[in-house]
Amino acid sequence: MGSRFLLLWVLGLICLLPSKSGAGSLPWGELQADLRGAPSIADSGNPEDETECLLCHKPYIEKFSTTRHAQVLAASHPGKLGSACETCHGPLGRHLKNMLAEKKKSPNSVQSKPGFVFSFKNSPAASKNRVCLQCHESAERVLLWRGSLHDNLGISCDKCHVVSQRRSRQHLLASRDPKKVCFQCHRDKRSKMMRTSHMPLREGKMTCSSCHNPHGGNGPNLLNESSINLTCFTCHQEKRGPFVWEHMPVRENCANCHDPHGSNFRPLLKQKLPFLCQQCHMQVFHPGDLYDGRKLGGTSRLGGKSCINCHSQVHGSNHPAGAKFQR
Ligand code: HEC
Ligand code: HEC
Ligand code: HEC
Ligand code: HEC
Ligand code: HEC
Ligand code: HEC
Ligand code: HEC
Ligand code: HEC
Ligand code: HEC
Ligand code: HEC
Repeated sequence: MGSRFLLLWVLGLICLLPSKSGAGSLPWGELQADLRGAPSIADSGNPEDETECLLCHKPYIEKFSTTRHAQVLAASHPGKLGSACETCHGPLGRHLKNMLAEKKKSPNSVQSKPGFVFSFKNSPAASKNRVCLQCHESAERVLLWRGSLHDNLGISCDKCHVVSQRRSRQHLLASRDPKKVCFQCHRDKRSKMMRTSHMPLREGKMTCSSCHNPHGGNGPNLLNESSINLTCFTCHQEKRGPFVWEHMPVRENCANCHDPHGSNFRPLLKQKLPFLCQQCHMQVFHPGDLYDGRKLGGTSRLGGKSCINCHSQVHGSNHPAGAKFQR
């Protein structure tokens, strides 16, 4: 009984520890109700010392020890890495006891039938995420995870993060190049990035997280800000306005004309000029009205910069005579 309370106490401490990433202070006993296949508090022994774990898990522990978790957990469990493992894998006393017994029986090959361990291999996404969220629920970037699109789709933290070893410079990402984490599933975005006009993702100066929070957001499309335009303004402030003469589609949504992921029409336009403008401006007053495809005539107006030869201030104008965005 005593050791159970000790374990609860230890787990309680661990959960209080990561003040920066939040404090969902859930002892395993409570957590376990939500987890399938997890060992229960009754399985706790007191596997504090890591030397016994090292007996069988040396390669894992060596790789794990290069991660941020190992550093933080080592600091909070000096000399007791064994119990640190329990924060993610559940009470391990019984596992340890069983495995040591197995090893006695057949010293050269311990049967690979673990049991009494919370394993990330076959557990459902919701259970795995619950384990991570006990400490990260209220971290700023993760705050909106619950009910987000990726959560609802049953995607687990360990699709994007590899926790058992360091594969990337930052954030324990599954790949050294953060974009590749997303390309596992969003292949179309990789091919868009290769188009002639693109923001500098290919060059490594931006990444998907410059605009998206894969953990969830307040606005549409898992964006970092609550709207598309607010997201763009974080870097393109000069487009924010307000302008004396506003162009309605610009105020409404930058994505009316631009595809942020890449395009073959410079600069990131969804359509070639003049067709881009003509999606909305078919019946325009113009001398001679030479602009519809039907009446090809003003080639200089159709080719090259087309409409923006004259209407150069498409994002809005502050000129007193800029009502038609010519200046
Ligand atoms: C005598 C050998 C032995 C000892 C000691 C031992 N384990 Fe294990 N452990 C195993 C074997 C065998 C497996 C099954 C491995 C597999 O499925 O590939 C296992 C599986 C695990 C798993 C589950 C891996 C997964 O995701 O499926 C964890 C976690 C684990 N051990 C942690 C520990 C910890 C922590 C300690 C020390 C407290 C420990 N083990 C001590 C032999 C041992
Ligand atoms: C922060 C959570 C966390 C902690 C702490 C943790 N693990 Fe793991 N462990 C995982 C995850 C997640 C996986 C699944 C593989 C992955 O995503 O990297 C895993 C996988 C494993 C495996 C299976 C490895 C394989 O190749 O299949 C073993 C064994 C293991 N852990 C042992 C340990 C031991 C021993 C400790 C303590 C030194 C420990 N873990 C601490 C999260 C953790
Ligand atoms: C016992 C609490 C605890 C658990 C459980 C836990 N973490 Fe952490 N995690 C931490 C702490 C503490 C840090 C360090 C925070 C810091 O540096 O500010 C951290 C850091 C991280 C980081 C950032 C690492 C870096 O190098 O920047 C990621 C990503 C992360 N955890 C993901 C996970 C995932 C995925 C899981 C589930 C497999 C998980 N964590 C489980 C406590 C925990
Ligand atoms: C779809 C991919 C994806 C999933 C799923 C995912 N993450 Fe992340 N996570 C990232 C990326 C990319 C970063 C780095 C940049 C950022 O914050 O967006 C990150 C960063 C983090 C950080 C570090 C934040 C910081 O400010 O240092 C933590 C902690 C974290 N994730 C925890 C989690 C947890 C817990 C889960 C599961 C509930 C999870 N992540 C699920 C992609 C993902
Ligand atoms: C410059 C900001 C920006 C960057 C960088 C960015 N996105 Fe987007 N993303 C957006 C905006 C804005 C939308 C909404 C577009 C719309 O409504 O037409 C969006 C929509 C999406 C969508 C849903 C709609 C669709 O087109 O399928 C996915 C999936 C997506 N982005 C994935 C990614 C991935 C993966 C990356 C990294 C390769 C990435 N994004 C980089 C701004 C960005
Ligand atoms: C395990 C697969 C997987 C990974 C990895 C993944 N996603 Fe997704 N994501 C999906 C699925 C499935 C959808 C829903 C269908 C769609 O929109 O493509 C989705 C949707 C999205 C959307 C659209 C949201 C909306 O409201 O329309 C965005 C944005 C997005 N993901 C960004 C990212 C980013 C950024 C990363 C990398 C950090 C990433 N995803 C990694 C599977 C994944
Ligand atoms: C994280 C910062 C950042 C965000 C957010 C951002 N951009 Fe950019 N954008 C850039 C950078 C950097 C460039 C390259 C500037 C250069 O090459 O001079 C760029 C270039 C562009 C270009 C010109 C591309 C070309 O081929 O010349 C367009 C158009 C553009 N962004 C539109 C958008 C839109 C629309 C949004 C919102 C969906 C957005 N940007 C959000 C950083 C950002
Ligand atoms: C009505 C269509 C339209 C909308 C909506 C639109 N743009 Fe543009 N954008 C253009 C055109 C056309 C160009 C090319 C202008 C040129 O070459 O002079 C351009 C060029 C750009 C450029 C690169 C050249 C420059 O002026 O810096 C950036 C960055 C840009 N837009 C950002 C944005 C942002 C941010 C928004 C949303 C606030 C937005 N655009 C909304 C049509 C649009
Ligand atoms: C998504 C639809 C849409 C697109 C695309 C679009 N516009 Fe507009 N534009 C509008 C709307 C709506 C107004 C406001 C009309 C009004 O006030 O009657 C407007 C107003 C204008 C005006 C001022 C008209 C006036 O009567 O004051 C000019 C000039 C103009 N747009 C030029 C362009 C050019 C050039 C392009 C292409 C780069 C373009 N527009 C693309 C919807 C669009
Ligand atoms: C050679 C210069 C030039 C080119 C090229 C040009 N425009 Fe114009 N546009 C004008 C002038 C001049 C006006 C009238 C301005 C005024 O009344 O003050 C005008 C007016 C407009 C108006 C306002 C119409 C109204 O009823 O008041 C719209 C909308 C417009 N242009 C859209 C376009 C589109 C779309 C294109 C490309 C297909 C285009 N323009 C190409 C010079 C041009």
